[in-house]
Amino acid sequence: MDPEILRSSFAVVERRAEFAVKYFYSHLFRHHPELRALFPADLPQDMERQRDRLFAALTFVMDGLEDPDLPRYLRDLGRDHRKYLTRPEHYAAVGASLIAAFAVVAGSAWSTEAEKAWAEAYGSIAQLMMQGAGEARHHGEPPWWDAEVVSRTRHGDDLVVLTLRPRQRLTHSPGQYVSVSVPHLPCVWRPYSLANAPRADRTLDLHISRVEDGLLSTALVRRTRVGDVLRLGAPGGRLTLRTPPGRPLTLIAAGTGWAPVKALLEQLDTAHEARLFLVARDIAHLYDRPALERLRARLPELAVTVITPAPGRPKAQATERLLTALGNRAGWSRHDVYVAGPPDLVEEVGAALPALGTPADRVFHDPLPPTGESRPRPVGAAEWLLDRPPPAWHNPAGRAPGP
Ligand SMILES: Cc1cc2nc3c(=O)[nH]c(=O)nc-3n(C[C@H](O)[C@H](O)[C@H](O)COP(=O)(O)OP(=O)(O)OC[C@H]3O[C@@H](n4cnc5c(N)ncnc54)[C@H](O)[C@@H]3O)c2cc1C
Ligand code: HEM
Repeated sequence: MDPEILRSSFAVVERRAEFAVKYFYSHLFRHHPELRALFPADLPQDMERQRDRLFAALTFVMDGLEDPDLPRYLRDLGRDHRKYLTRPEHYAAVGASLIAAFAVVAGSAWSTEAEKAWAEAYGSIAQLMMQGAGEARHHGEPPWWDAEVVSRTRHGDDLVVLTLRPRQRLTHSPGQYVSVSVPHLPCVWRPYSLANAPRADRTLDLHISRVEDGLLSTALVRRTRVGDVLRLGAPGGRLTLRTPPGRPLTLIAAGTGWAPVKALLEQLDTAHEARLFLVARDIAHLYDRPALERLRARLPELAVTVITPAPGRPKAQATERLLTALGNRAGWSRHDVYVAGPPDLVEEVGAALPALGTPADRVFHDPLPPTGESRPRPVGAAEWLLDRPPPAWHNPAGRAPGP
């Protein structure tokens, strides 16, 4: 498998991503109409998002062909794909349609070598995903977990904290997230962080902030009631604690980024030297204060800095204030840094930290969702070559964004 051939043909396909995705789905559903039911009903209207999901995954794989973490990511992805009812035979169908789409879209850039390289690459990716799914099945893990809402606390109009009790134990590490789906929106899954370290009564907390016009967040904040049953996918993500006692760490939480950071803090003990930056768009959005006070009482050495914009100032000022506060602290080269919150803030902080002294490979965060829609597409090959935009789709395995 030649990574250079893969990358160069992918660059051509990626430029015509919308067409590639439309061709891919049309090809898949024409040859395998039985697979249509696995995908959301509004797929044709949702092509933009599909383009980004598919290409975010492919971009990540292309960028990380030599990354030692890639196999683990792919096994986790395969394990989590069981919630879509994906079966081993579906992988060949998806692979055939992907390669058919690439061949058409790449046009003259496609060759026998490119086809061979892609078939081999897809084969190894699919193999690892099927292996992850097979191992989970072998260990008796369910394809998803049904979980009853046992408590619901509203904070203002747009934020809710739900406590769920899964019918089967769901084992997770603090800092991980799960995909969530509700019965009246079949096939619609979105990731939400688990906001607690594992508990003896196996309950799990989710902090949901409503996004304007957001399909699932609006349903979860406005419609979910105690007694409802949600569906959860397998836990994933790499915002888990990997700092050995003795090495200091910084946790930065903005908005519902507090959820995974709270879970990480619950796992810390007094042997860890830690500092926390808590960012909110205004004082009213600093929810869950009693939990913070309990953590402070348990971890007296924890240094806490709360950041909000000045009254009446836009929430972007909070990011500016955070960056200033980070710049005023010392010791970054010794710290591991965990960041959670809105993608733009995570990206800005991730870009600023190396200049302060934290190496990029010691900055940990969740996958950043694709930001492709805001990115202008080059109109032709010449523009692409002259002004190649930086990759805007970020890796789903949670490495720090590049410079
Ligand atoms: C690893 C991970 C962990 C996450 N953890 C949490 C969590 O703990 N709590 C939480 O509330 N959310 C969390 N999210 C975000 C969550 O997964 C959804 O993206 C969010 O709830 C919006 O979904 P939706 O279906 O309501 O909106 P969609 O219907 O998917 O989107 C509607 C519109 O809103 C825009 N949009 C989507 N997401 C956002 C956003 N976050 N901010 C602003 N605009 C947006 C879309 O571009 C689109 O235009 C997490 C995301 C990731 C990737
Ligand atoms: C190499 C193979 C594959 C890769 C890399 C891949 C990757 C992805 C990724 C990254 C997502 C985004 C959401 C998530 O992380 O779950 C996704 C969604 C999805 N995948 Fe796959 N996938 C592959 C194969 C398959 C196969 C074989 C099927 C079964 C037909 C499938 C069905 C789905 C479905 C139904 C969704 C949800 C779409 C949506 O929410 O709109 N995938 N895939």
